[in-house]
Amino acid sequence: MNIPVILTNFKTALSGTGKNALVLAKIHESVSQKTGVSIAVAVQAVDIFRISQEVCIPVFAQYCDGISYGSHTGWMLPEALREAGASGVILNHSEHRFSERKKLISAVQRAKEVGLFVCVCAETDQEGKELSEMCQADVIAVEPPELIGGDISISTARPELISHSVEQISRVPVLVGAGVKNGEDVRIAKKLGAVGVLIASGITKAENPETALLDLAEGAKG
Ligand code: G3P
Repeated sequence: MNIPVILTNFKTALSGTGKNALVLAKIHESVSQKTGVSIAVAVQAVDIFRISQEVCIPVFAQYCDGISYGSHTGWMLPEALREAGASGVILNHSEHRFSERKKLISAVQRAKEVGLFVCVCAETDQEGKELSEMCQADVIAVEPPELIGGDISISTARPELISHSVEQISRVPVLVGAGVKNGEDVRIAKKLGAVGVLIASGITKAENPETALLDLAEGAKG
């Protein structure tokens, strides 16, 4: 799988849940096809099967546990996500962090064992470096929590965090996110060495998600 240059996290947004999630995922597919930019969506586990049947862009889960088949009521089994059609998983998002590093490490291991592409989130460049050294993430996404869901992007408010992250996390490609809204944010992120962006509200709350996504994709092309 190509590394997504735009990874949209639907979280639990109204526009990203159930039937709405399918509509939004189809917009992502169409923009990816029109622009040639690698785009993926991270949806709620219950929406993975339906969406992955209907679109040909990668569908990510937003979380999984480091468990195997057995007695784990209510937990998220990597094999089940894979079988539902997930290609990847986001782990350690700041809204769903692992309480212990060893739990994150085993979730990464299990996800990799079943063939999921793993995006591990970090809140700082330093944490990103540590995580890149202790687990086999395919990409590290650095997002300062205070900017998540806000109007000011990491590219505007903390450009130095993007370049420091890219310097520190030298062995693994870096995505950046928090407050990303437009093509200029993506252009800056890429210019500073990130491979792309992790985004949510810039799309899920956009008046016209297709227009917003086209602008982001243009920014990704430079
Ligand atoms: O997972 C992406 C997310 O945390 C960033 O959210 O709304 O600032 O784009 P947002």
